[in-house]
Amino acid sequence: MDLPTFPPGFLWGAATASYQIEGAAHEDGRSPSIWDTFCQVPGAVDGGDTGDVACDHYHRYPQDVALLRDLGVGAYRFSVAWPRVIPTGRGAVNPKGLDFYHRLVDELLDAGIAPCATLYHWDLPQVLEDEGGWRVRSTAQAFADYAAVVHEALSDRVGMWITLNEPFCSSFLGYAEGRHAPGAQEGHGALAAAHHLMVGHGLAIQAMRANGPGTAGQLGITLNFNDVRPASGSAADAGAARRAACLSNEVFTEPILAGRYPAAEGETWGDGAEAISDFSFRQDGDLALISTPIDFLGMNTYFPQVVADAPRDQADPARRTAADIGARTVIGDDEPLTAMGWPIDPSIMTGLLGWLRTTYPGLPPVYITENGAAFADPVQADGTVHDNDRIAYLDAHLRAVRQAMDAGSDVRGYFCWSLMDNFEWAYGYAKRFGLVHVDYPTQTRTPKASYHWYRQLINAGIED
Ligand code: FCB
Repeated sequence: MDLPTFPPGFLWGAATASYQIEGAAHEDGRSPSIWDTFCQVPGAVDGGDTGDVACDHYHRYPQDVALLRDLGVGAYRFSVAWPRVIPTGRGAVNPKGLDFYHRLVDELLDAGIAPCATLYHWDLPQVLEDEGGWRVRSTAQAFADYAAVVHEALSDRVGMWITLNEPFCSSFLGYAEGRHAPGAQEGHGALAAAHHLMVGHGLAIQAMRANGPGTAGQLGITLNFNDVRPASGSAADAGAARRAACLSNEVFTEPILAGRYPAAEGETWGDGAEAISDFSFRQDGDLALISTPIDFLGMNTYFPQVVADAPRDQADPARRTAADIGARTVIGDDEPLTAMGWPIDPSIMTGLLGWLRTTYPGLPPVYITENGAAFADPVQADGTVHDNDRIAYLDAHLRAVRQAMDAGSDVRGYFCWSLMDNFEWAYGYAKRFGLVHVDYPTQTRTPKASYHWYRQLINAGIED
């Protein structure tokens, strides 16, 4: 089989997240997260699904680590559930919660797999949401304190740390569109949330470095990126693309990677947009904090976004949400799509990696911390899943990563989303991204064809 190849040292991985796989929602002192609460809202999650049991990974982690070992990955990206470790959000540590991650990390190391820990993959303790959640600055400090606790406990064995996963989703999907927990639809609140998440990131990086000077490990953040393209050459569509790129990418990349706020924010949310925010949540010194140097950037990306100019949904600026930027996504009639309805176009990799390389001269090394696809994945009579569409997706996107590397991008590794089928947020269990199929009623794991393909790639895909 013709497989894409990568330079020696390239890190192969697979990724998951706590709320999507762990289950055991009420065990060993874990408190509810905003996702536990959101799942109870009628209509919020397809099928009324919840993460109460999920993949039962909390109890079945040895089996899941064995799957990772047989896959041959060098690293596994998981996330730590804040409500397990500090159920009250700030203050007392719950030793039983932390113990789970001790056990998981030890199991990974025994299997020869490097653990990569994400500290926040969206499961904010509900008690902190009750105090304002990411709308308020005090949550940033609580996050940094929690990060320091986990880092102190595990950094003797965990060498790769990610502060936040996709702060875009936590802020804009959570506080503007309301499609994710906590389900708020606010204007100013979402921009404040985005800012406070970044403040929390900066504080957490500093706290972790102070914890282990010289031995803190590799510290970074994972952002999600959209390769935004205008639907036409018109000035109006170019404006829509500028605003969409500001919303999806630059709100985070500009402060974190360049220590500045995005040039397009005025036309997106400021006076140029008749203002929905005066950005009064910003304080002196924030940019320096947010741009605290990181050792790597995690990039998650799945699909391109073609946008056209459109009227803002809400004429009254005071009642607009921060995601209401006067742009609409255009999808062509015959475009290939995944089961999520996301267009398939591997050139997002060359596009985004090239943009990062040329826009941010001091860019740290990049890891692709998530990429993958959901498909229908019918199970054959013999229990196998022939997901050739997923293999084609992964193959093409990896080849594009390699192409970007040849053009000068410093990409150090690739984590496939996801090790196994899991709770896909507002879509519940209906969307399957796994290399391993999960039959939820029996919790049976069955490696799909893509798992076997990925294993072959890991074995053969490194150049001499
Ligand atoms: C990303 C999330 C991840 C998963 C994939 C499909 O936005 O980080 O948890 O849901 O999308």
